[in-house]
This record gives sequence, C-alpha cells and structure tokens, in this order.
Amino acid sequence: MTFETVAIIGAGTMGSGIATNIAQHGINVRMVDISDEAVERAIATVGGFYDRNAEKGRMSAEDAAAAKARLSGGTDIGLAGSADLVIEAVFERFDLKEELFGRLNPVLNDATVVATNTSCLTVSGLAEAVNDPTRFLGLHYFNPAAINPIVEVVRGERTAQDIIERCVEFCRATSKKPILCKDSYGFALNRFFCPYSNEAVRLLEEDLGSPAQIDRVAQETLGIAAGPFLVMNLVGMQTMAHAAANLEPHGPFYAPSAKVKEMGESNGKWEIGEAPAPDADADAKIADRLWGAMFLPVLQELDEDVASPAEIDMGAGLALRFGKAPCATMDAMGRDEVSRIIGYYCETYSIEAPKSLSKIGSLIG
Ligand SMILES: NC(=O)c1ccc[n+]([C@@H]2O[C@H](COP(=O)([O-])OP(=O)(O)OC[C@H]3O[C@@H](n4cnc5c(N)ncnc54)[C@H](O)[C@@H]3O)[C@@H](O)[C@H]2O)c1
Repeated sequence: MTFETVAIIGAGTMGSGIATNIAQHGINVRMVDISDEAVERAIATVGGFYDRNAEKGRMSAEDAAAAKARLSGGTDIGLAGSADLVIEAVFERFDLKEELFGRLNPVLNDATVVATNTSCLTVSGLAEAVNDPTRFLGLHYFNPAAINPIVEVVRGERTAQDIIERCVEFCRATSKKPILCKDSYGFALNRFFCPYSNEAVRLLEEDLGSPAQIDRVAQETLGIAAGPFLVMNLVGMQTMAHAAANLEPHGPFYAPSAKVKEMGESNGKWEIGEAPAPDADADAKIADRLWGAMFLPVLQELDEDVASPAEIDMGAGLALRFGKAPCATMDAMGRDEVSRIIGYYCETYSIEAPKSLSKIGSLIG
C-alpha cells in the first residue's frame, strides 16, 4: 500500500467524498476542519454511505464497520502529523490555503506527501507555501468523489517524479483512474468542459436556441444523459462562473459570457422548459458550436502537452459522462471537418489553428 494514513483537511463536500473513497480501501483517514460540526457531519455522511451500501449488498456489514472504524477527525491540525499523505480540500481561496500550509508545515514529517484538490488555482502557485514543493502535487477529484472514478494527478513545476508515481499507484489502489496532467488552468477536463458550457450560454445569448433545444441537441450529438443547462443547474452557476473565469488566462475565447457572469453573481437557475420540434438547420448550427467549443480547447491542450488524447477521452467518458469523447470523435470526423468546425472560433477570436490538427485521424491509438 502506498499510503497507510491519509489526512484530509476540509471536511466539506469534497473532503467527505474523498474520505468515503479512501477509508473503504483499507486506509486510515483523519479528517481535519475548522469546525467540529463539519467533521462530525462528514463522518456521519461517510458512515451513512457505507451503511446504505451494506443494506444494498454492495459491501458486507463487516467491511462497512471496518471502513467506519478507520475514520477519525477533529479541529487540531496536529492530527495530520502522522499522515503519509495530506489532501487539502478547504474553500477555494489562495490566501486561506496559503495560511493553512503555513500552519501545516511544522506539523508534517520529512516524508509526508501533500496534495491539493484545488480546481482553479495552480499547483505551482500553491507550492510556494509548502516546505518541500518536490513532495507537493494536485490530486483533483470530481464530485461526487465517493463514486466518480477520475482523479487528475497534477504535476507542479517542482513535483518529483517518484511522488507522481506513488500518487498514481495510490489512485489505482483506491479504485480511481488517474489522468496525468500538466499544471495548467482547467487541467485536462475543465479546460474543455467549461468552454462547452459557456458556449451553450453564448448560443442562448445569440438567440440561436433555447436552453431546452440546446440541451436536446447536446444529448443527441454528444451522447450525454444531461445537456449543459441542466448540468449547470445541478453544479450551481456560482461554481460554473468561477470555473469559467479561471480559464480566462488562456484567452478571450475562454472568458465567461455576459449571462454566465450575471447568473454566477445571482447563483441563478436556468429555466429550461420544453424543447421545440427538431429543426435540422438550427440544430446543426448548435451542434457545430458545441463540438467546436470542445475541440478547440482539446487541440490547444494537446499542443501544450497537458494530457494525452487517450486520458482526455477517458475523463470525458468517465468523469463528465460524454457518450462521445472529443479525440475519438475528431479522429472519426477527420481533419477537414474539424477545421471547418473550429474555424468559426479561430476567426472570431483571432486564434491560430492548433498544431495538433495535423494529428487528427490518429489521435487515439
Ligand atoms: N465541489 C466541487 O464540485 C469540487 C470539485 C473538485 C474540486 N473542488 C475543490 O475542492 C475544494 C473544497 O471544495 P468543497 O466543494 O468541498 O468546499 P466546501 O465548502 O463543501 O467545504 C470546505 C470545507 O473546508 C473547511 N475549511 C475552511 N477553511 C479551513 C481551514 N483553514 N482549515 C480546515 N478546514 C477549513 C470548511 O469548514 C468546509 O467544511 C476547493 O478547493 C474546490 O475548488 C470542488
């Protein structure tokens, strides 16, 4: 086993989901939060998950009891001192995470590996706050972390190779599928998932479709169970707008649309309503725009070596539940068709055609 004891700092949505995953794999978990109530709630949530799984026959009652016994926690950061791995999952604020690492540094031993579950900050930026950046990396879980199989393993500028290897092994030992990523805003998956959602809203702003119509076209063309507007309602517009804004350093194409910003500020919900009858021309236009808003960022991240085509596709399928994955779809469509589809974005935002266009046809194996 790569790590025997894992401390999770921040016992909220992600912390409790990650704890659920880890403790059922024979690993001791210490949960640390600023609030006793949060720790108690997290331990109760995790225990409830195991109990329900035992009732449904997904795990034995003995395994559920053993997993529960591996969980402990409190508000004392010293609880992280005996951990082999610390996973930070506190609120998404640089100053807060920085302050936390400052308090964590004297508590940890020389061998402890430290990971952040940040979605929007860079690993290399946060690495400045830890004692040893060579033992620091991103372990980006997806919500709900108890069951979503994907973890992005993010290498900071100074992360040591053996630390990456140990964490990849740890992910596999806890039934997760790791995606190796470079430290780049959006990592491998939010890099295209956010622009795709943002583009759905731009289509609405341009009066090219209603939310229900855009959701229906997305379901039909991408083979997904839920369209972008329904997913945005589930995730929450504040989170979506924040995630989209985080990608802005990649260029204006990534910037959140006016309505995304507005809905983010009010944390509003989209009124989805009924989809109109299919309209071949209008639907084809929507499909092109949604594909293009995924293809362009995927090609750009391939140019930047953020992640491999196979791992991007695996994440699209398993973490985001896209029935059709972007790289395999580009291979099937061919270079000319993909060039046509992304041409709209290259022209509108003065973006140079990605070099990886030339590899279409053999992106996947
Ligand atoms: N929610 C998601 O869908 C999602 C997905 C992937 C990654 N993330 C990332 O995971 C992290 C946590 O997100 P979340 O949704 O679980 O947040 P959350 O608000 O549900 O939980 C955060 C927890 O951190 C605790 N906390 C705050 N400051 C602390 C400190 N100094 N020390 C100890 N505990 C502290 C809070 O009391 C709270 O219980 C963020 O970095 C977020 O970007 C979130």
